[in-house]
Amino acid sequence: LPLVVGVDLGGTQIRTAVMQGDKLLSRIGLLTGENPTPDRLIPRIIQSIEQAVKDAGTTLEQIAGIGLGAPGPLNSHTGVVFSPPNLPGWTDVPLRTILNEHFTLPIFVENDANAAALAEYMFGAGRGSRDVVYITISTGIGGGVIAEGRILEGIVGTAGELGHMTIDLHGPRCNCGNIGCLESISSGTAIARRANEIVAMGKGDELLAFALAHQQDDTANTPEDSRHVASHNHVHINARMVAEAAAAGVPIAKQIITTAAEGLGFGLVNVIHIFNPEIIILGGGVAQMGELLLEPARRIIEKRAMKVPREAARIVPAQLGSDVGLVGAGALVYYDKTV
Ligand code: BGC
Ligand code: NA
Ligand code: ZN
Repeated sequence: LPLVVGVDLGGTQIRTAVMQGDKLLSRIGLLTGENPTPDRLIPRIIQSIEQAVKDAGTTLEQIAGIGLGAPGPLNSHTGVVFSPPNLPGWTDVPLRTILNEHFTLPIFVENDANAAALAEYMFGAGRGSRDVVYITISTGIGGGVIAEGRILEGIVGTAGELGHMTIDLHGPRCNCGNIGCLESISSGTAIARRANEIVAMGKGDELLAFALAHQQDDTANTPEDSRHVASHNHVHINARMVAEAAAAGVPIAKQIITTAAEGLGFGLVNVIHIFNPEIIILGGGVAQMGELLLEPARRIIEKRAMKVPREAARIVPAQLGSDVGLVGAGALVYYDKTV
């Protein structure tokens, strides 16, 4: 396989790498900082690409193309990023055109979760399957659909926004403007928000005590988490703490995780009915809690999904870990868009 560059543009981090297949030859990580506007970030993306190429001991002439994954909605046909809730300050940014002014290489821009789906399809848990759905559950919830061996793109390239399927007609407000989206119920942000609401109402004393006791060894307090959580006695309860408390048997924490997991279960019922996938791959930090999340989700699927497509769908964890988006970005260059 030829050398490619991948860039994974996230809400808090930009990761850039030169890679060959799923092997990273050099990598650079940058924090997006407080005010990640396009005029600040794009020059840094360009620099990181040039640096990664240098670090890999190669030159741009040896690179087959550059792939970028970014939060959506974005138009994967034109490379225009519309206005992702997780990238404040970005509105209708012609990312591919701008990068084309600096690099004479083929450039591909794709939704981060669509790119991750491609990575798992080519190199991970989806190898050998032609109908693959990937769902990432972290700060937000993203999805990518591989249908009959192709990324489902849609007419303006936004297909696969699985985090924004409506789960609860009267649910919480989502960052996208809708209410009751899967993301507003089952994301890390949603779990943290519910936990802090419950504590603020005085119904989460046991959870609060657990959080206080475990606060020092918690390293998962990301900036996004703290943006969304209220503080109570200066404790910011994040999704990781709720998961740990649930695993330790704190009833209210179990209840919070079960609510999120059941929301996910209904989302998966919809996915099974719409796409009839062979495999559903779950990635992202929240998915790492494993059975705590999967057991209630499976119960919903068992009760609510049609038997035949349900039994055909295997639900498995992602294999590529935290580099899945990066590997997927590079994989866009290998994926033939013209077919
Ligand atoms: C966005 C998706 C993205 C996901 C994960 C969601 O809020 O709508 O496009 O894939 O977050 O970054
Ligand atoms: Na998507
Ligand atoms: Zn939404």
